[in-house]
Amino acid sequence: MISKVSAPGKIILFGEHFVVYGNRAILGAIDKYVTVISEKTNTDNILISSSLGQISVQKDEHVSNIEKKFRPFFYIAKQVIEQNNFDKGITIKIESDIPIGAGLGSSSACCVAAAASVLNLFNSTDQPLTTYEEKVLELAIQAEKTIFPNTSGADCTVSVHGGIIEYQKEKGFSKIETEHEFNFLVVDSEQIHSTEKVVNQVKRFKEENKEVFLELCNEEERLISKALDAMKANDLDTIGKCMAQNQIFLEQIGVSNDILLEITKEIEKITFGAKITGAGDGGCIIALRQKGDELSEYVNTTKYQTHHVSIQKTGMQVFNT
Ligand code: MEV
Repeated sequence: MISKVSAPGKIILFGEHFVVYGNRAILGAIDKYVTVISEKTNTDNILISSSLGQISVQKDEHVSNIEKKFRPFFYIAKQVIEQNNFDKGITIKIESDIPIGAGLGSSSACCVAAAASVLNLFNSTDQPLTTYEEKVLELAIQAEKTIFPNTSGADCTVSVHGGIIEYQKEKGFSKIETEHEFNFLVVDSEQIHSTEKVVNQVKRFKEENKEVFLELCNEEERLISKALDAMKANDLDTIGKCMAQNQIFLEQIGVSNDILLEITKEIEKITFGAKITGAGDGGCIIALRQKGDELSEYVNTTKYQTHHVSIQKTGMQVFNT
């Protein structure tokens, strides 16, 4: 049996970093995907291949000895093999159209698609979908923690469930039910960042500026309430203004830089509002645009890579082959 699953990337509309400390965040799944194909093998090895390379390792190897870029997938395979007392190995093949290290949730989508695909190899067909989704999410977050222990779990959650979600570490997620369509231009600064490094940098900022950080958390909470109302009313002007305000908070906690600021200033002149998405210190800027407005003049003349993305209602998808 071959098990094939796709999982979407994400943008964070509001609340990145603050979500690590228990605040709310709003995320949307986007129309860029990772696809994972897995299969049982007749060898004792776990074989992982992606655009980053390939490894084949004995399934008894310790997870911490695996190269970081393959570690989450090795962890997933090893866990599922052990849980099912399977005496052979697994191959995992990852294909992705989500740029890596750009803040668009590539790593989480890979973890979700791999967890879903490998679990599916051993799944009983009468299992309710919600149980399967819960198992996938739990395994994907554990896998991501092998390389990024402080993850809030927000990125994996939106990749599993799709749509727009409100997420809080302790409370989990709820879907924002809306018929409105939200369209974005994503501008990639092409500065690769490490989410772990930026999250640690914010941790230091928080420790050295306790009161300022607490006040920013409170302001972000108020901003999210306002943004949610605006999203329900399809008030693009207000959503854009909230995004611009969120960008200021992100600048205050030190995750912006000159290039990101330059892109934001440029793009907010022709859109409703723009901000960093994800960890920052590189990666992408998102800007809320009018549906149908391709922003061609900017797109055709900017030196940066751009993507038009829209919110995807569906999360991970299992293809039975
Ligand atoms: C990364 O996409 C989002 C952060 O808030 C980290 C996290 O939530 O785990 C920076």
